Amino acid sequence: MSDTELTSSDFTEAAEPFRLFAAWLDDATKSEPNDPNGVALATVDADGMPDVRMVLLKGFDEGGFVFYTNFESAKGQEILGSMKAAMCFHWKSLRRQVRIRGPVEIVSDAEADAYYATRPRGSRIGAWASKQSRPLESRFALEKAVAEYTARHAIGEIPRPKHWSGFRIVPQTIEFWHDRPFRLHDRVVFSRDAKGGWDKTRLYP
Ligand SMILES: Cc1cc2nc3c(=O)[nH]c(=O)nc-3n(C[C@H](O)[C@H](O)[C@H](O)COP(=O)(O)O)c2cc1C
Repeated sequence: MSDTELTSSDFTEAAEPFRLFAAWLDDATKSEPNDPNGVALATVDADGMPDVRMVLLKGFDEGGFVFYTNFESAKGQEILGSMKAAMCFHWKSLRRQVRIRGPVEIVSDAEADAYYATRPRGSRIGAWASKQSRPLESRFALEKAVAEYTARHAIGEIPRPKHWSGFRIVPQTIEFWHDRPFRLHDRVVFSRDAKGGWDKTRLYP
């Protein structure tokens, strides 16, 4: 049986995490009412104080899990300070959770440019107009900034702001969890071994 055919009860047989993750995300795309790629992103600040918020997963492969943001935002600064992060997906309708932890890399300029170019024009303007996570005096101030950048980029391509790019969490561990009766859930954690392969361990729920 291939990993993509693994059902909720036999996922613990998977030999590696990426095809299993792809299958679960695919299931979530069919079952969730919106944002199946929405994921909680955890960081820590310079004092070790945790922080968490949602982002959208925009790509993944064996190299890691990618999302995009403003590098001057709270999360951007926290990640640039520690170069570590964690993610937690919870697909309610499937009763499944996936947790990912690891060091963080910055995606290449070419990769960020390619993704930025796929975004709607309004979102590209928004990346310029929003000083994400900093105090905003009024809604009007944001709308004024949007109008200014819209006028500035009335014609031609809208370049990607230097402070807007992607981070890639390079997983050290990926844990899959599925609800089972009486809270006797299935948990399997894949951990990177010294040779870059994966060790698989079942955990008590
Ligand atoms: C479902 C959902 C998806 C989101 N996706 C992103 C995203 O991909 N990138 C982003 O910068 N913010 C995203 N946000 C907004 C963040 O949760 C957060 O409010 C913002 O990035 C500021 O976070 P920070 O102050 O911790 O940096 C999303 C919010 C929700 C609810």
